[in-house]
This record gives sequence, C-alpha cells and structure tokens, in this order.
Amino acid sequence: MNVELKWEPHDEQRKFLDRDERFRVLCWGRRSGKNEAALIDLFVFAVENPDSTCWWVSPSYTQSNDYGFDRLVEIVPEVLLDGDPKRSAPREVQFINGSVVVFKSADRPKTLKGGGVAHCVLDEAASIPSGVWHEYVRPTLSDKPIGDAVILSTPKSKNWFHDVFRKGQDESVGGYWSSHATTFVNPFVPDSEVEAAKGELPTRIFEQEYLAEWQQDGGSVFPEISIGSYSMDGYEGESPFSIGVDFARHEAYTAVVVLDAVGRVADTRRTQAVSWREIQGMIEGVADRYAPNTVRVDATRDNKITEDLRRESGLTVEGVSFSGGRKRELIENLAATMEQGEIEVASDAGQLQRELEAFEYSVTSRGHPQYSAPSDMDDDMVDAAALAAHQDFTDRENKSVLTPVLGSVRRGSSGRRSARSKTAQAERQLERLRHN
Ligand SMILES: Nc1ncnc2c1ncn2[C@@H]1O[C@H](COP(=O)(O)OP(=O)(O)OP(=O)(O)O)[C@@H](O)[C@H]1O
Ligand SMILES: [Mg+2]
Repeated sequence: MNVELKWEPHDEQRKFLDRDERFRVLCWGRRSGKNEAALIDLFVFAVENPDSTCWWVSPSYTQSNDYGFDRLVEIVPEVLLDGDPKRSAPREVQFINGSVVVFKSADRPKTLKGGGVAHCVLDEAASIPSGVWHEYVRPTLSDKPIGDAVILSTPKSKNWFHDVFRKGQDESVGGYWSSHATTFVNPFVPDSEVEAAKGELPTRIFEQEYLAEWQQDGGSVFPEISIGSYSMDGYEGESPFSIGVDFARHEAYTAVVVLDAVGRVADTRRTQAVSWREIQGMIEGVADRYAPNTVRVDATRDNKITEDLRRESGLTVEGVSFSGGRKRELIENLAATMEQGEIEVASDAGQLQRELEAFEYSVTSRGHPQYSAPSDMDDDMVDAAALAAHQDFTDRENKSVLTPVLGSVRRGSSGRRSARSKTAQAERQLERLRHN
C-alpha cells in the first residue's frame, strides 16, 4: 500500500528524523515543532514495526490527549487505522498492522507500569518528575523488545531532562543523541511572533522558553535586586511618588510600597488588619506623607474598595484587576524594570527583598509563564511594588507593551527602551548560540 503524507519537516526536524539512537532528546524552544516531529516519527515507527506497543506520556492526561492523541488522529491516514480510535481512558490509536499507541499521563505513575513498550515519547519532559522517568518509564523500555524513547521539552531546572540532554551531547555516551534549537528554526512560526515575545517577556524567560537555554537561577523572576545603601528611615525621596497597594487575601497582608521619581523604594508598610477603617487609615497615612499623584490599588476582588477609598479619602485612586493576564503583565514589567537597574530597594526593606528573592515562575502547558511566591511565602509586597512601578492603566487598551512608569519619569521618553534593550540582549544571545 502506498500512503502519501502531506508533511515536510523543517531542517531541524529532518536531522532528528534521520537519527536512530535509542534515546533522542530535543531541547527546543516553544512552538519550534517538537510535537510535530515526534508525532511523525512515532507514526513511522508504528507502521514500520508491526504489533508494537508505543506510549505517549505527557505531564497530564489532558496534555497527552490535546497535543498527542488529537494530532496523531489528524496525521494518520484513515486507511491505516484499525477502526475508530479509542476515546475512553486511556486513549488509544490502533493500526491495521497490530501496532498501538497508548496516551498516558505522568501524574498517574501507577498507570505507567507494565513492560513491552517498544517506543515511548515523553512530551514536556522537563515537567515530568524525575521518579516517573527513572522508576516507571525507563524500566518498561528494558523489557523485550528493548524500547527506545524520544524526549521533548523546553528546558526548566537542571533535572533528569537536563541529564539526558547532556548525555546526548557527550560522544563518549553511547545510545543517546540530543539536539538544541530555538523557536526561530520553525519556518511555520513567523519570526515576528518571536520578536514580539522578546519585547514582552523578561529576558531570562525569553531565553529559557524561546532560545531553549537553561538558566542558572532556575525559576527566579528577580535574580538581580539592586539594594541601595540608603535606609527608608530618614530617606525623604524625590517627588513625584507612586504608591501601590495590595489588599490581603486569605490571612495574608495588606501591603503598601512607595516608589520615588528616581526609582527608589521610599517606604513599605504591611498590616494584617482586617477592619477596613484600619486599612484605610494606613493608606491615608502614607498618602499624606508622600502626596502621590495616584494611588494604584489591587481591585481584583472588589472594586467597591477602590470607590470607597476614592470617595472617603479624596485621593486619586486607580483600581487594577489582577485577573485576565494582568498580573502577568504587571510582574513582567516589574521584572524588566528591575533588570534594567531602574529600581533600588532600600537596605532596610527586608520583607520586600525576601519576597522578591523567593518569587518564582513556572510555565503552563500552553507555554505561558506563571508567576507566584513559593507555597510557604507571601507575595503582597511584590504585588504592591508591581502596582507602584506601573503607569496609568486607563489607556492600556491602546498599548501592547506596558510602559514602566520609572522609565518615562527618568528619561522623559516613552519608556520603551527597556523592551528594546531586552531585544538587543536576546539578539546577542542568539548570535552567541549560532557561533557555538
Ligand atoms: N513540519 C511542519 N510543517 C507544518 N507546520 C509545522 C511543522 N512543524 C511544526 N509546525 C507547526 O508549528 C507549530 C508548532 O508546532 P508544535 O506544536 O509541534 O511545536 P512544539 O515545539 O511542540 O510547541 P509547544 O512548545 O507549544 O509545545 C504548530 O502550529 C505546527 O502545526
Ligand atoms: Mg509541544
């Protein structure tokens, strides 16, 4: 039977498809074509090796179905399928030659027991726990027939995925091959998309996600915090001031951060008070002291607080909701501004320093970075600082990249420089990679 596939690999995909090592590892950037390459490779394997059992393993069952099963069903010509694919868990695609592909999830390791797996794809491997690889998947490949694996991911921490990648780069280690590629290798994703990401993401996240580089500091969002040699106690600060307020959620703190015109943290306050009167009193106290143009407050839960504060205190209050990706924008702006050294944290702002140091990012299955404190840490000060570091949100609908307020105050310009210099930095990284 002759079956024609209307699919052309891009150059990096072709190099991968030409290899036959037992363990092939792709450390490629977001949207670079990892899944497409692995799916075509899996399809060819299943067709060329009758009666073989293949697995597709993702961090979650939903990912396995969405990025594995659904796409494989699209790719495989119907004449090669033995009936309708099985859609009850675990999903399966059965071929007429007796081969089967089973879709599995790493968050249910008990379902990863069993032997006789001839070929296994591990997608988003850096998000699959090391124990799942070492104790479950790897042993199933040691049975008869000896199985092989294709391991795909963008980099994360230096876990087992890093280890197998390094083995693939080491010529003295047999049976492994690995490849590194940035998102730019995929001609089906316009370079302009990647350029846009460069402008919008903190450099480290762009480097990790699109240039597929391992970062020294893992998931830290603020690795370089400039600590000033001044203390808030006695520091007058330079006007105009900008104030950010984050209201307490579940037993957390209400936090206030004051930034001055040269980007110094002039004051921080924090209270666990629950009465509105006390919280309002604290905000009014800070506003009296610094006479800010605007007080920017977290209005995620309740916009009424914003209105009450505006009415009762007579301050110019701007409510900012953290929902719908806004938190991400706020944090990315703060990270980019800090990376440019435009914010200095007072030597005695210990709580803010600790929260900034601990604040981390992770990446969702769709490739979006997510920002939060570790589970045992607070982040109210970080949120308050992010609010203070932002310009007016009222006209944000017209902006694609939010403008750091300090950039514009200090330079009297549009504040876009930080995004531009990030781009230049990313370009230098890319250039370096090309030469390596
Ligand atoms: N050889 C190809 N021909 C046509 N389109 C392709 C090819 N390779 C990849 N693409 C397209 O590029 C996009 C990204 O591909 P894919 O989902 O395989 O990448 P990925 O690296 O797994 O992405 P993610 O990081 O989101 O998991 C998809 O829209 C896909 O259809
Ligand atoms: Mg993918």
